[in-house]
Amino acid sequence: MSLQGKTAIVTGAAQGIGRAIAENLAQAGADVAVADLDPGRSVETVGAIEKLGRRALNLKVNVADTNDTKAMAEQVIKAWGKIDILVNNAGITRDGLLLRMKEEDWNLVLQINLNGTFHCTKAVLQPMTKQRYGRIVNIASIVGVIGNAGQANYSASKAAVIGFTKTVGREYASRNVTVNAVAPGFIDTAMTHGLPTDVKDTLLKQIPLGRLGTPGDVAAAVRFLVSEEAAYITGHVLHVNGGMLMV
Ligand SMILES: NC(=O)c1ccc[n+]([C@@H]2O[C@H](COP(=O)([O-])OP(=O)(O)OC[C@H]3O[C@@H](n4cnc5c(N)ncnc54)[C@H](O)[C@@H]3O)[C@@H](O)[C@H]2O)c1
Repeated sequence: MSLQGKTAIVTGAAQGIGRAIAENLAQAGADVAVADLDPGRSVETVGAIEKLGRRALNLKVNVADTNDTKAMAEQVIKAWGKIDILVNNAGITRDGLLLRMKEEDWNLVLQINLNGTFHCTKAVLQPMTKQRYGRIVNIASIVGVIGNAGQANYSASKAAVIGFTKTVGREYASRNVTVNAVAPGFIDTAMTHGLPTDVKDTLLKQIPLGRLGTPGDVAAAVRFLVSEEAAYITGHVLHVNGGMLMV
């Protein structure tokens, strides 16, 4: 599954799943733009990509801001001449039961997880359709399919990302742009570190493979979907959840 000669943008790649995806794509041969709110933390991802002998860009991007996402695409085109792969990974949680959920927490999660995916996708679609090649992977979540108490905003955003994936997949298939989603279960990152031990224990009992996932488990699925081997797959939701949900 070589990605030699390909260029990629991974949002939210300063840490966690995004970082693992960026490094995995670089290992396969791609040059990778690390697009994150926090360029200070992105330095480590950039260093790891360069250590693998690939080119990297450190781009400060707020995916919720269209000006930033347009500039992101322009900078990659200017530096490398094309964009082959986009991974919409940047995402946040602001949990709370619905009656206590503040409107600003509802809005922020939708703005980053859903609108961010819309902005970044729109920014790369023109160059991708023009070159008649593109691979887009959106990071959704198991809770966008089964729900999760305390995550009305987050699960709504991830369910919407799945609908978005299928529609954009249909719209641009004729231009050889595939659009797929990866829906992780519970992955061991900063996002899940805050979970209380009793919640983690209950979760583990629901996972047939008996462990949380690793960022590398998710990155491997993304690498497949952006590869030549996945050329005939579009609009698909690939679940990476240790068997917690089987569909
Ligand atoms: N960790 C899990 O269990 C899990 C499960 C399912 C889905 N996911 C999804 O995977 C993705 C990555 O999650 P993670 O666990 O690695 O999270 P994380 O919190 O460890 O990392 C998220 C990264 O996104 C960046 N980011 C946040 N807001 C941004 C913005 N507006 N613009 C640009 N960058 C921004 C952060 O700076 C950070 O580097 C998210 O979309 C998340 O919803 C995670």
